[in-house]
Amino acid sequence: MKSDAGHNSRDHFSSQYGALVAIVGSAVGLGNIWRFPYIAGVYGGGAIILLYIVFVLIMGRPLMLTELTLGRLGQGNAYGAFQRMNAPGMGRLIGSMGILAAFIIMSFYTAIGGWTMAYIFKSASGGFAGASSQQIQQIFSDFVSHPVWPIVWQALFLLATMYVVMRGVSKGIEKFSRLMMPLLLLLLVVMGIRAITLPGGMDGLKFLFKPDLSKLNPESVMAALGQVFFSLSLGMGAILTYGSYLSKDADIVKSSKYVTIADTVISLLASIAIFPAVFAFGLDPTSGPGLLFETLPNVFGQMPAGQVFSFIFFFLVFIAALTSAMSLHEVVVAFAVEEFGMRRPVAAWLISLLIMALGVFCSLSLGIMSDFTLFGKSVFDLMDFISSNILLPAGGLCMAIFLGYVLSRPVVETEITSGGRYRPHLAVFYFLVRYVVPIAVFLIFLNGIC
Ligand code: PFF
Repeated sequence: MKSDAGHNSRDHFSSQYGALVAIVGSAVGLGNIWRFPYIAGVYGGGAIILLYIVFVLIMGRPLMLTELTLGRLGQGNAYGAFQRMNAPGMGRLIGSMGILAAFIIMSFYTAIGGWTMAYIFKSASGGFAGASSQQIQQIFSDFVSHPVWPIVWQALFLLATMYVVMRGVSKGIEKFSRLMMPLLLLLLVVMGIRAITLPGGMDGLKFLFKPDLSKLNPESVMAALGQVFFSLSLGMGAILTYGSYLSKDADIVKSSKYVTIADTVISLLASIAIFPAVFAFGLDPTSGPGLLFETLPNVFGQMPAGQVFSFIFFFLVFIAALTSAMSLHEVVVAFAVEEFGMRRPVAAWLISLLIMALGVFCSLSLGIMSDFTLFGKSVFDLMDFISSNILLPAGGLCMAIFLGYVLSRPVVETEITSGGRYRPHLAVFYFLVRYVVPIAVFLIFLNGIC
């Protein structure tokens, strides 16, 4: 179904289901399986998870709908869509912050994407078979501190991303996401059950779901906010760009709901697979970015045919990472193609080279350059902080203000309801977008900075 007679010059998804799967594909990725558990661990578990869920409800979901609306209304990438909505200044601001954020996120996202690829091969070759939890930790630290291999894997991950992005929207992105996501969900459930039933596993569930509110502080509140934006791909125009590919009769209210639910469920499931194992094997929940890679091989070691499961799992995480990376890459490529008239392959190569130039330092900062710090953070942590905790929330804030205050309400409502075809209740949405999102983001910024 190639719908959309009105704007058929742009590439549209071949079906609404495909478009929805692709948006889920952007949202669900390393943010859910790698970043959510490690952030939850570092900031003490239950309390930050509870806060995360509250933020998803009051900011994540409304901003997801905001971006889909702006993209479909403006019919363009983060930059061009605002030009078409007669707000070139806003477009320049949000567009450039978004492109910068996409670029920075890619620099470290590709590093972790590379780790997942390496772990596919390590699993397949039986690298973890019979290993103790200390040995598994050692395998990980030997791997990340090697000066060459993590960078080679990072480059391979980037090449894989570029290859799919170069094939265009409907062919590349849709096909990849459709099959893999349900499989990933299923496997996470199986692993969660195995992890909970390990001796001592229940302590992991307590850690996750018994909030100790005294653990909240300005830093952890900011981390929860950053995680909402990162995980749902919000604030930089990725969802906006995908929204522009949706047909005019798609129900974007429902889409925003399903995507938000799917994303949150996957983050929680990943944590349920990881934390019981952290406690069962006496690992450190605050170990940071390595948590996933140091923990799960232990769980596979306790499963029949663990080697096969481990291989499938890391392969699925790789695919999830790839579909997210594609959307990050796509934001920058769509910008270069549509605004500068660059040819797609040229844009994709050029952008990849730039990402790699910064990405090498992110990779090394998790290994041999870990002592090198800027503003008290490693290059990796700094890139993560600037993008997730500053640029994305700032982008989201601008979009909320634009939709809530600049666009006229009838225009917004016509777009959201597809010209009256759907009848959602928009009062709560408006309240959240006009008041809650701007005030909350502003206060959290202020709190985090002061
Ligand atoms: N949401 C992705 C994840 O959870 O892995 C990461 C991401 C993709 C962030 C696209 C931002 C974005 F625009």
